[in-house]
Amino acid sequence: MSPQSTQKKFKNPRAKYNFEGRTCSISGVGSYVPAKILTNADLEKMVETSDEWITTRTGIKERHIAAETEFTSDLGTEAARRAMKMAGVTPEQIDLIIVATITPDMPFPSTACLVQHKLGAKRAAAFDLEAACSGFIYALEIGQQFIMSRTYETVLVIGAEKLSAITDWKDRNTCVLFGDGAGAAILQNRQGAHGLLTAVMGADGGKSDLLFMPGGGSRCPATVDSIAARQHFLRMEGKETFKNAVQAMQTAAEEALRRCEITISQIKCIIPHQANRRIIDAVGERLGARPEQLFVNLQKYGNTSAASVGIALDEAVHSGLLQRGDLILLIVFGAGLTWGAAVIEW
Ligand SMILES: CC(C)(COP(=O)(O)OP(=O)(O)OC[C@H]1O[C@@H](n2cnc3c(N)ncnc32)[C@H](O)[C@@H]1OP(=O)(O)O)[C@@H](O)C(=O)NCCC(=O)NCCS
Repeated sequence: MSPQSTQKKFKNPRAKYNFEGRTCSISGVGSYVPAKILTNADLEKMVETSDEWITTRTGIKERHIAAETEFTSDLGTEAARRAMKMAGVTPEQIDLIIVATITPDMPFPSTACLVQHKLGAKRAAAFDLEAACSGFIYALEIGQQFIMSRTYETVLVIGAEKLSAITDWKDRNTCVLFGDGAGAAILQNRQGAHGLLTAVMGADGGKSDLLFMPGGGSRCPATVDSIAARQHFLRMEGKETFKNAVQAMQTAAEEALRRCEITISQIKCIIPHQANRRIIDAVGERLGARPEQLFVNLQKYGNTSAASVGIALDEAVHSGLLQRGDLILLIVFGAGLTWGAAVIEW
């Protein structure tokens, strides 16, 4: 599709700020998951659960688990290398690295700094961003501000998680849901393409107790007692989280579409946060989407939090599903609570 024909099919909400033709395009995507696979059958041997329960309640069949010596920065670095290869970007070209994660290698320094060193991206500024499963859209939106303001030419955005490190492997309510992995995107100004058209972001800290990890921060530093009380693992109220996810994802997606003055039928590919098949189907139905518009890969990875939509976007691109000019709708939801939706012209 020629850039001219795409310019007419939707409104670019950023045009009113007079960016004089500047855009924030995704010039490369990449993802990486660790080699080890943990199947539902494996979980049957660890907790009282069944493949049938996990499949019907979540849609997840297996997830990837990082090795003991493989950390969030390693997963993120590998995903970044793949995105840089696709974009044809060298480490020296990168101006800024943003890593969205809730499982940093350490509380500090940031995982982004560790990735910067591993990549040899000597010129790049680097910081982490914590918006849980919504982190990838938050990071895209922040990254695009630097591109559109002409502060930077090349921004590397990564969502990376080693959730297996904060999963309570004795809690069947949560341990069947999560997996490890990383997704990355290179943001650059590219003539003749609209790129990231809009990103809606929201939060409700009043519901922080629905999904959280009590231990490890300043409120509850590690002690013998906190470890014995399993405070250093994530906790979740499944049913309430489910309800809030469906509602917030619908609202965010509708707002993103409204801003661009497009309808759901114009979207080629909807990439929702890959947490639960039933959440994805409910959101798709409420938005009036056709089932074939929904991209789903959670059966292979489970919920990889900030990495989730990054991995899915990479798979959608490399499956040949997306052509230049196609519209993509990303929708996310996570702890915080946080949520978001983004429209991208590919
Ligand atoms: C977690 C989730 C799959 C549970 O599904 P649900 O239909 O709400 O199931 P319930 O919580 O009502 O549990 C039903 C029963 O299954 C049991 N159960 C929970 N986990 C189980 C497991 N892994 N295997 C077998 N049984 C399990 C519960 O103990 C409960 O038993 P009870 O009725 O005897 O008390 C669902 O709530 C969910 O997906 N929530 C959102 C999670 C999410 O996406 N979080 C991340 C957002 S970023």
